[in-house]
Amino acid sequence: MLRRQIMSNKAKLTINNVQTYDLKKGKSLFHNLIDNNIYLPSACGGKGMCGRCKIKVLSNLEGYSESENKHLTLSEKKEGYRLACQINVKKDLLVEIPEELLSWEYDANIVKIDDVTHDIKSITLSFDKPMSFRAGQYIQLIIPPYGNIEDKTVRAYSIASPPSSKNTIELLVRLVPDGIATTYIHKYLNIGDKLSFTGPFGDFFIRDTNASILFIAGGSGLAPIKSMVL
Ligand code: FES
Repeated sequence: MLRRQIMSNKAKLTINNVQTYDLKKGKSLFHNLIDNNIYLPSACGGKGMCGRCKIKVLSNLEGYSESENKHLTLSEKKEGYRLACQINVKKDLLVEIPEELLSWEYDANIVKIDDVTHDIKSITLSFDKPMSFRAGQYIQLIIPPYGNIEDKTVRAYSIASPPSSKNTIELLVRLVPDGIATTYIHKYLNIGDKLSFTGPFGDFFIRDTNASILFIAGGSGLAPIKSMVL
């Protein structure tokens, strides 16, 4: 009886008709993917606010959430796109994920931590695999479980260093009261620690133009601008 109950809490995910993973029913597909070390683009941590966790679902699903109606175009819906964070897993699922999203994780060492202001830290990550990115793009830090936090947490941070630096990036992180990721970075993270991240993501970069550009930014929002002007 207990065994049947445990089994019924699981579902199977098949990606690109090849890889299969275990899913926990009752948990979002987005967070199930994180449990399986697959990190979709996200700027909201799975809260349905950014519209970036688009994924092609081949299985039949229930209707769209309010957030999906806001972030998916009609043609995306016709093609089967959904927001992974809005899918509450209830059964086996068949999805398509671009191959590059399955292997873009970087393992980094923390080589520098500076207090920039009373609540903003600059952290520098160093990694072996070179990363190409455009000034203005962001990465997603994978925060390990700590203290009472039992699950991994993924949060997006803009890169503050210039693209010419391919094995080192700087991030500016403002402490958000009770923020899981920022508390970890401000109170637990030390030089020499290891952190993984995925990326780069985002389309906030300068297009070719002869027009003058006026940058206005403040606080940790300075990060992408700093990357652009350096
Ligand atoms: S992760 Fe932001 S909308 Fe899904």
